[in-house]
Amino acid sequence: MDQAKIWKGNWTFVLAAAGAAVGLGNIWKFPYLAGESGGGAFVIIYLLCILLLGLPIMIAEIYIGRYGRKSPINSVTKIIADFNLSKFWLVLGWLGALAGLLILSYYSVIAGIAASYIFSSIPASELNPAEYSVQYYSDFKESPLLMIFWHTLFIGITCYVVGKGVVDGIGKAINILMPILFFLVIVLCIYSSVTGEFLKTFTFLFNPDFSKITPGVVITAMGQAFFTLSIGMGSIMAYGAYMPQEQMIGKTVLIVIFLDTLVALLAGFTIFPIVFSNPELSAFVGKGLLFESLPVAFHAMPLGSIFHSIFFILVSIAALSSSVSLIEPFTAWIEEEKIFSRAKGVVFLGFIAWVIGLGTVFSDNIWSDYKLNGLNFFEWTATITDQFMLPLGGLLICLMVGFFIPTLDIEKDLNISKIFENTFKSCLKIIAPLSVLLIFIYALT
Ligand code: PHE
Repeated sequence: MDQAKIWKGNWTFVLAAAGAAVGLGNIWKFPYLAGESGGGAFVIIYLLCILLLGLPIMIAEIYIGRYGRKSPINSVTKIIADFNLSKFWLVLGWLGALAGLLILSYYSVIAGIAASYIFSSIPASELNPAEYSVQYYSDFKESPLLMIFWHTLFIGITCYVVGKGVVDGIGKAINILMPILFFLVIVLCIYSSVTGEFLKTFTFLFNPDFSKITPGVVITAMGQAFFTLSIGMGSIMAYGAYMPQEQMIGKTVLIVIFLDTLVALLAGFTIFPIVFSNPELSAFVGKGLLFESLPVAFHAMPLGSIFHSIFFILVSIAALSSSVSLIEPFTAWIEEEKIFSRAKGVVFLGFIAWVIGLGTVFSDNIWSDYKLNGLNFFEWTATITDQFMLPLGGLLICLMVGFFIPTLDIEKDLNISKIFENTFKSCLKIIAPLSVLLIFIYALT
């Protein structure tokens, strides 16, 4: 591999992986899924999936990327050649590349809405902020042109960053922006927990009502664990290729997972206290939750409209650091294969994701009546990717690293004590693949 493409120092990988992980999945999706799926029961299964599936799969995924030092498709190709494996494993690379485009298609629409919110704080004179906020979001969704404008802008910026390259584009931006995001989320969480319904939120998120656990909740929680950690599709594998050889994978993954989970929980403790203290707001509104409830809190804060704008700037940045990782694996492959230059390749892929994204834009307006099995276009794209493609990718990663590349000396790379090593191995070989399989079967029956 081109040495210039390996990140310098340990922090760039941590921040890039945390940047890929922390995004709309934490700030937008986690709260609304928890709201829709009954709170505590969902949160407990989600946390279990993070530990038992997320941790081993992320380690294995980085491992493949760093071993191959190429785009996911070509890293898998190298492993196939080095260990004499069947060509079947290529599915892993291609499934991921495709999942990345599909996720980006709707991710960019939602990120576009977040970006537009930078300019839309509730007017200071408004007497009923909750009602205003709900109405504003609903009007926004009814306008396909407005949504397309922001969707185009967001995908355009994503392509620009990725086109500029791994070190100068993604690496630099993330080093500056992620620390600011963490700081702001903490400030907001403290504010809304102090002024809103903290205790009710605590009970809602941590007091599981096990009667609410259905196959649907389990599979949603698993899908969310994969989505939020960006695993199962090659983003983390692609970044693994840029990780310094001496960096310890085990410790790094623990930091990334800790940061990701922390931001999701903080987002929950920011949004629900406001929802619970405003009768006009509901926890069950699905993907509008972030856009309806937070502006209400900002409205009540001193200097609220400034905080409102800063917050949505940062959400957009968090989304950007994730969206670049969605398109990087496929772009890296196009560049390696010399099909196009990096810049042309990313524009080509961005265009495909943009077109598919129109389906998500129209799901809220002109296509809102078109549903298949009760799900609209956006819901189908999100469900197929999170609940099927990512877990399947994760399953293949476990099986490949756990059983088919036996000579790899993963212990040395992990650098962890014997107990953890054994736990890791049993998670990778038994617990993770079996759980994904069982959850699939459970969902299908
Ligand atoms: N993890 C990102 C988020 O939580 C989304 C993502 C999924 C990014 C898969 C890359 C790959 O927003």
